[in-house]
Amino acid sequence: MSTYVRFRHFGRIGTHMHSARNVGRYKSSKPEDSQEGNPLLKYLTMKITATGPITVAEYMREVLTNPLKGYYMHHDMLGEHGDFVTSPEISQIFGELIGIWCVSEWISGGKSKSLNLVELGPGRGSLMSDILRVFSQFKHLLNTCDISIHLVEVSPKLSEIQALNLTEKSTDAKYEDRSSCYKMGITKTGLPINWYYNIQDVPSGYTFYIAHEFFDALPIHILQKIQDEWREVLIDVDPEIQHKLRFVLGSSSSHIAKTFIKADEKRNRVEVCPEAAIIIQKLASQIKNFGGAAIIADYGHSGNKEDTFRGFRSHQLHNVLLAPGTADLTADVDFNFLKRMIGNYVSFLGPITQSEFLRNMGIDLRLKVLLENAKDATTQQHLIKSYDVLMNPNKMGKRFQFFSLFPHSRLEQTSNVKYPIAGFTELETS
Ligand SMILES: C[S@@+](CC[C@H](N)C(=O)[O-])C[C@H]1O[C@@H](n2cnc3c(N)ncnc32)[C@H](O)[C@@H]1O
Repeated sequence: MSTYVRFRHFGRIGTHMHSARNVGRYKSSKPEDSQEGNPLLKYLTMKITATGPITVAEYMREVLTNPLKGYYMHHDMLGEHGDFVTSPEISQIFGELIGIWCVSEWISGGKSKSLNLVELGPGRGSLMSDILRVFSQFKHLLNTCDISIHLVEVSPKLSEIQALNLTEKSTDAKYEDRSSCYKMGITKTGLPINWYYNIQDVPSGYTFYIAHEFFDALPIHILQKIQDEWREVLIDVDPEIQHKLRFVLGSSSSHIAKTFIKADEKRNRVEVCPEAAIIIQKLASQIKNFGGAAIIADYGHSGNKEDTFRGFRSHQLHNVLLAPGTADLTADVDFNFLKRMIGNYVSFLGPITQSEFLRNMGIDLRLKVLLENAKDATTQQHLIKSYDVLMNPNKMGKRFQFFSLFPHSRLEQTSNVKYPIAGFTELETS
């Protein structure tokens, strides 16, 4: 069956129904689809009427993670029958190569005695499931290491799906304390696994952090330069049309701009994400103090784009101000901003394109092995198609980027060429 699916960056791509991962979801027309019956719109309208226009960041936070009606909170939006697909849902190879990256970095980083594997925004848990399968294949090496899994997930619905995918049995933590883990269990491969709302609550230690399509979901502020002054773009109710929101410009100079915009900024419109700054600084300080690494994969730019805030619903672009809570909202990750926020705390590599990273990690060899072992022509075709979606520069190959953080000491080792960093260095072929 041939269908069309849209990734959250752009483009319309013909592909087949992917594996059993893309469990279907019947879509019906619901009251919240209409502006009038939309509960988040009612709530936001009341709030704006009472206290004035809100920032785009506040709007995005409410629309995505409002506990009652936030987009991420109560349904599964991933896959062909949802709103978008992601690389780990397209092919198992993606997660397997990240699993190999973790094993390789654990060895090159000196085989620490313990390892926290932390994933931010794990979706359905498919990426972690593929990583853990690789870990169990390297049991003979990893058995000297005390490994625990930590998932940072704000969505009750997705954390439920993750628990089903990853554990034999999980339980909700007894305490409703948002400052600590809210669910715990043992993975199907026998490792302890815990869930948190916030990265700040994850225990310290030697850690590998993984964030795939997470940073793009964090709330952004939009700043507009008017003559020499930065003003914030805000969201207000439209006085002319009932049940309608509109963008307006703040009347005074923006405080956010003073903190985050560079003195030599050339653009006239800039999106800034203070939450991304807080999270990346947390990762950097943990890696500096306790060792480990981080791998961040997302669509993004190098501080040159002006306008990337957009909505997605059923694989189509969606007006960000319409039917809030029924569509995904996202903005490209500004990798230069992340670098600036990291400063000199740790070293970083990238961003490099997804196709470069996966090729360096040996995707071609892995595809060859899977094709040789495939039982039938349909499986082979599926493998080839999903490889193409991940690697083709016109699909996900070029637009998705890999960016990685390490302690300075790790890159000093690398300059001796003894322990190259996997994925960021071309594999030697014999
Ligand atoms: C676009 S999905 C990506 C899912 C998965 N990483 C993948 O690639 O398939 C974003 C994920 O981040 C989670 N998320 C979004 N905002 C979050 C926040 N502020 N804190 C924690 N998790 C968040 C969502 O619930 C979801 O699991």
